[in-house]
Amino acid sequence: MSEDRPRTRDSQQVRRRRFVLIVVAGVVLSVLALGAGAVSGRASSPNAAMPSPVVTDTPTPTQTPVPTFTARPVPAQTAAPVPVPTFNRAKFSIDDPASIWVVVNKLRPLNPVDFVPPDLVAVPVPHTNAPELRQEASNAVVSMFAAASAETGLTLASNSAYRSYETQVRVYGNDVADNGQAFADTSTARPGTSEHQTGLTIDIGADSGNCSLNTCFADTPEGQWMAANAWRFGFILRYPADKVAVTGYAFEPWHFRYVGVELSTEMHRTGVTTLEEFFGLPAAPNYG
Ligand code: DAL
Ligand code: ZN
Repeated sequence: MSEDRPRTRDSQQVRRRRFVLIVVAGVVLSVLALGAGAVSGRASSPNAAMPSPVVTDTPTPTQTPVPTFTARPVPAQTAAPVPVPTFNRAKFSIDDPASIWVVVNKLRPLNPVDFVPPDLVAVPVPHTNAPELRQEASNAVVSMFAAASAETGLTLASNSAYRSYETQVRVYGNDVADNGQAFADTSTARPGTSEHQTGLTIDIGADSGNCSLNTCFADTPEGQWMAANAWRFGFILRYPADKVAVTGYAFEPWHFRYVGVELSTEMHRTGVTTLEEFFGLPAAPNYG
């Protein structure tokens, strides 16, 4: 029995120790559990450690519509406009007989009618009649004939160039005598109204003489080259086939008038073939 008491005391001590152990274990587990909760809370919310925002009683703002953005149309990429210089039609006189732009026709006689150009020179090219022209026109003829030869092997020739008032009296008189005045007035200018008197005009043919001063010159290689290239050297074909009603003269594929490269190029570019149309002058089919 004595053995029972110590056994009892022992049992009480064991129970006391168990109790203490349970309490300690409980405290330890509680501490561990709290620590784990704090760690997991921090991990789940990056703001967990930050102070909570102060909740105020401000009303919820009304929903403002979210603006929709329409893409602004992108302008098509266009090249910057290049200013085109306006051709100055008043650069030279069309009335002064000494101007390279002078317009002479049945309604616009030379003034004075016996005008003589100031700077006539002999034109050093093949010819049937010794040609004279104003210096600038002569230089252009020499260049043009040389280009025709270099580019095609063709040899051009002058059939008539400057004609004085007196010479025109004779040429017109011969035409009237041969063909009658009505016909002559469609092929030869009356004295004082011929471009040949300006020293800026030349009748051009093939050096061979084939179709010289004849409409068939237009169909020759020389005539075709001249029709296509004269503008490059400052000349225009003055009496086109389709402009008889404007010029008053039948088609003359041999008659070329020097106006300078600036004007011939502009007329070529714009496709305007007569001086009357280019300068806005009245057509001149008949004498006034
Ligand atoms: N054959 C041209 C029109 C002149 O005589 O001037
Ligand atoms: Zn002529």
